[in-house]
Amino acid sequence: GGFGPAGEAGVGGGDSPASDLDSLWDAFFQSLDGGHPELLAFLSGPAAGSQPEAPSELSVVLRTLIPKTGPRCPLAVPRRELVVQDVLSGTVTFLPLEEDDGGNVKVETSNVYQIRLSQSQEEWFISILIFCPERWHSDGIVYPQPAWLGEELLARLARWSVESKKSGFKSTLSLISIIKYSKTYQMLKEKYKDMVKVWPEVTDPEKFVYEDVAIAAYLLILWEEERAELHLTAKQSFIDLGCGNGLLVHILSTEGHPGRGIDVRRRKIWDMYGPQTCLEEGAITPSDKTLFPDVDWLIGNHSDELTPWVPVIAAR
Ligand SMILES: C[S@@+](CC[C@H](N)C(=O)[O-])C[C@H]1O[C@@H](n2cnc3c(N)ncnc32)[C@H](O)[C@@H]1O
Repeated sequence: GGFGPAGEAGVGGGDSPASDLDSLWDAFFQSLDGGHPELLAFLSGPAAGSQPEAPSELSVVLRTLIPKTGPRCPLAVPRRELVVQDVLSGTVTFLPLEEDDGGNVKVETSNVYQIRLSQSQEEWFISILIFCPERWHSDGIVYPQPAWLGEELLARLARWSVESKKSGFKSTLSLISIIKYSKTYQMLKEKYKDMVKVWPEVTDPEKFVYEDVAIAAYLLILWEEERAELHLTAKQSFIDLGCGNGLLVHILSTEGHPGRGIDVRRRKIWDMYGPQTCLEEGAITPSDKTLFPDVDWLIGNHSDELTPWVPVIAAR
């Protein structure tokens, strides 16, 4: 069949050396040869047997999944898995990894699943297959219910496959480590979640609190990396132009960054933050007097008519 040793190996997630992947793959491949003929057949995909000489090129990625926290998964332990992609046979197989008490990592044979792309006459088909459904244990997050895989995920995959969304932009999330971002986001979400309960504005607290928590998490990581790169010790200062409810200013100040926010309209919630959060009511009219030369970072998040002026002020 079209199955052979890894033709190409890449490492995803950024925190695992390539040698980890090589030794994991070697051990797993040997165990397949030894005692798991069914798993070998599952991995080989539909081409196995029909085209004995078919070439095979596998790409194997070792990646870390950072689960969302939630009532069903409060601990959110990161999980590692091998993703085996076989472009020629149209399959990608997800193999969960388990670590024993001695720190040895090996492939688990339960919770293995595969996405398969196949063509029959003019039509393309996508299927999701579970290896050994009777040993599938859902946790509702990393390992969803089979019904979710078969109904929701399959429908989304089909939709994404025919969509043609081209974007020339570099993903801005890739400027920072996703693992660090997720940890900081979850820590800040926990720390500032009570703001949702006391929100005095008419706007939706869930939307605003978590959006500002997410922006703060992003900036805190970006600034931490900037300090490391430039060998700075003092935390960067900022000014938020058109700061609205001021929550972003409040979080960044509480996390140790000196800064202030300005908005043409004062909000009720400003009075709840305490004196360490500096918010000023005032209209910014772009001119030589509104350049903020002593501030490290200018922030403008959906700042209405100020938006086009933010890069102009920053350049000056
Ligand atoms: C869409 S809101 C965004 C608020 C906040 N940045 C956020 O992300 O939730 C735009 C804000 O910019 C403020 N604003 C617009 N023009 C301004 C100006 N010239 N000077 C000060 N604030 C201004 C508005 O009062 C409004 O609160």
